[in-house]
Amino acid sequence: MSRADEALRECARELSEYAQANGGDPSKARDLVIASIKRLLECPDLIGIGLPRVAQHLESTRILYYDTQVQMTLGRGRAGLYDPPHNHGAWLATAVYKQGEVQYADYRRMDDQSRAGHADLKVADARILRPGDVAITPPPPHDIHENRTLAESYMLVITGGSFAPTREYYDVGAKTYFTKAESTKDKSEQPAAQGAGK
Ligand SMILES: [Fe+2]
Repeated sequence: MSRADEALRECARELSEYAQANGGDPSKARDLVIASIKRLLECPDLIGIGLPRVAQHLESTRILYYDTQVQMTLGRGRAGLYDPPHNHGAWLATAVYKQGEVQYADYRRMDDQSRAGHADLKVADARILRPGDVAITPPPPHDIHENRTLAESYMLVITGGSFAPTREYYDVGAKTYFTKAESTKDKSEQPAAQGAGK
């Protein structure tokens, strides 16, 4: 087994354990989760492995690991790509691997979700992520996050299982959201304006 295989499997095992021990919310074991992902980020062999995935926002994305509890993707994006506030329907960790700078924010949902199209969000974390930095969100409805690449970056994104088939995009100021299907088409087959989302 390669170093990368060992590092990915070990991190996935730990994250599953932390999620299970905390009712499906590994953010309750934040320090342990961050330490585990930081150990994975020290593995030098994560670029170029795994399976290509349809990149919805970044220039390329590969699935490094998947089981029913944990999915890990590594994406590469040039400076200036913006992924507006959205969710994936699962807890989420975002980290920068080896190189890059990502302006990151995540939000907590403050309304009771009783009105379709309405969402009142409050910023929970907002900072620039650099290599080795890790951010984590709780499960839905508080898995809302936003990224802007400030420099060419490798972004490691870990979720609690698969991305949901649809995602919600939020307008924080207007307190609204709309739902969009997770694209299954390669970006080269779509008009550029539809290229939002990671
Ligand atoms: Fe995302």
